Amino acid sequence: MEDQRRAELIARQGMTIAIDGPAGSGKSTISKKLARALGIGYLDTGAMYRALTWFALSEGIDLADQTAVAAAAEQMPLVMHSDPDDPHYVVGDTEVTTAIREPRISESVSVVATNLPVRHWMAREQRRRMLEARAQGSGMIAEGRDITTVVCPDADVRILLLADPAARLERRTRELYGDIAPEHLETTRKQVEDRDAKDSTVSEFLEPAPGVCVVDSSTLTIQGVVDAVLALVDASLEERAQRS
Ligand code: DC
Repeated sequence: MEDQRRAELIARQGMTIAIDGPAGSGKSTISKKLARALGIGYLDTGAMYRALTWFALSEGIDLADQTAVAAAAEQMPLVMHSDPDDPHYVVGDTEVTTAIREPRISESVSVVATNLPVRHWMAREQRRRMLEARAQGSGMIAEGRDITTVVCPDADVRILLLADPAARLERRTRELYGDIAPEHLETTRKQVEDRDAKDSTVSEFLEPAPGVCVVDSSTLTIQGVVDAVLALVDASLEERAQRS
């Protein structure tokens, strides 16, 4: 589809895109590129779990206290900037964009992400942001673990992004260390396996729910994945244009 027609249809109909997948599947890179190409917002839902972990720790809250952490979610003064060229996160007066990627947060975030009252709050908040963007004649692409299933099962386009374990491990190691030296691969393998095991206790993100399209990024280039998703976006836009 021509860029101009796509932009017109998005302005008229809005667009929500849900992308789930495990660590290292390429979700963030792909989602930012797509948001940029489509001129819509970008929502990194993992960053919200990370920001809450940062906030709870900075307030001295015991992360094991589920009720206190869920209450902290309600009070968290989080501002998220959804520009895919410059996604950044501010809690109160503190810019936390870098801090939420630090190991101390990566190591603790699963405790927060497996807190069911917190998940409930997150899903409601994330869905609200997606639907608001859509209603404003724009849209949002949200990436995470439960976007296609819980947050926005009615998204216009729903994708499960998979990659074989070796490809995921290489990507994640490059992200963390900038290379794939054997010792870095080994440290990352342990982190990724531990995180996936914990995360998969609360969300299913390795098998597609009915109606969710699987895209396997193991053998595709980034542009190849982006093109595959754009084809699904175009199909959704055309189908809705014909119905209206
Ligand atoms: O994608 P990430 O590493 O930034 O995610 C941080 C944590 O939040 C990770 O433990 C997975 C979890 N998460 C989740 O459970 N559901 C989401 N929608 C997004 C992230």
